[in-house]
Amino acid sequence: MYAERVLSGMRPTGSLHLGHYHGVLKNWIELQHEYPCLFFVADWHALTTQYDNPQGIEKASMDMVIDWLAAGVDPNQATLFVQSRVPEHAELHLLMSMMTPLSWLERVPTYKDQQEKLADKDLTTYGFLGYPLLMSADILIYRADKVPVGEDQIPHVEFTRELARRFNHMYGREPGFEDKAREAVKKLGSKKARLYEEMRTRFQQNGDRDAIEQAKAVLDEVQHLSMADRERLFGYLEGTGKMILVEPGYLLTEASKMPGLDGQKMSKSYNNTITMRESEESVTKKVRSMPTDPARVRRTDPGEPAKCPVWQLHQVYSNDACKEWVQQGCRTAGIGCIECKQPVIDAILREQAPMRERAQVYLDDPTLVKNIIADGCEKAREYARETMRDVREAMGLEYH
Ligand code: TRP
Ligand code: SF4
Repeated sequence: MYAERVLSGMRPTGSLHLGHYHGVLKNWIELQHEYPCLFFVADWHALTTQYDNPQGIEKASMDMVIDWLAAGVDPNQATLFVQSRVPEHAELHLLMSMMTPLSWLERVPTYKDQQEKLADKDLTTYGFLGYPLLMSADILIYRADKVPVGEDQIPHVEFTRELARRFNHMYGREPGFEDKAREAVKKLGSKKARLYEEMRTRFQQNGDRDAIEQAKAVLDEVQHLSMADRERLFGYLEGTGKMILVEPGYLLTEASKMPGLDGQKMSKSYNNTITMRESEESVTKKVRSMPTDPARVRRTDPGEPAKCPVWQLHQVYSNDACKEWVQQGCRTAGIGCIECKQPVIDAILREQAPMRERAQVYLDDPTLVKNIIADGCEKAREYARETMRDVREAMGLEYH
């Protein structure tokens, strides 16, 4: 069985902000200790909406990778790469496009949503419709089991699961599959074979997904099975045929609670961000000019933290004692707003200091970043080539 693999991608949007750090990157950093992780720059995905102006994508990609490294994504633990440098994604995308019903793509909710949201762009393109299919290729080519994504991306992962099932069903049926699968069951030994059959029946009669997981656990315990038999047994469980592509699961990344400078969620489109490596002067200036409770016109007017965006930042950055000081001081006009903002400024600068330091190394010597990506691409390609060999074989495109 393959080791559980985590895969996630991010579109190159240029410099990342603290919302990305608190929302996505901290999560990646935890995951990299627990699983083999692949993190990649989805530069082709950027092209689906930015095809009219592709020039900035490369620079945005490099800046973004530096931000990943600055945050603490560790290239010795995780594999970092760029999508377009692993052209196997494109081959899988093409081959799957042959068997992807148009209607499946048209009903992915982001298709119409984004077209409406980005109404100033002409998104009636082939590439844009195929966005979820490209994402499926990204995931399936690594046989990733776990895909950390935000809520908006869940339909894409669901789509990927359906597609993997369709693919396995169509191309996973080698001649004599049923017989070979039954032979493989016998090789499990009578006790495990009985368990396996029981779980298989439970799934096929009641659609019980737990049964699948349990049966997989049984298979994982068996040492002496050949790879081919193992795959047959996985396929036979669900009745799909040989499992060539693996149905991924998702890991839901909680929506970022990071507030921006105006109290709305931090987002580039709201123009309320602090970038991860923003200069100290700029951070200070931005926080100092944040709006506060509008009722506090004069220093002597009492205020209400609940009506103030600065308070939301205290909730991210301050300890209980500091928060108590804010509540008290604000409501009694005991402290001024400038005073109240200082601990937030200090905390952000403290958080950014190690990031700035890590990034400096890469800014001083950009070949380091290039090498990290080159290594990552090589590793990623090895996995990808393996999957493509199986896919070509299943589709009869080997040309030995
Ligand atoms: N579509 C994702 C986004 O916009 C980025 C992405 C592309 C991705 N391919 C992926 C995420 C594969 C996870 C896995 O956020
Ligand atoms: Fe906001 Fe602090 Fe001023 Fe109160 S004292 S209004 S919480 S900045």
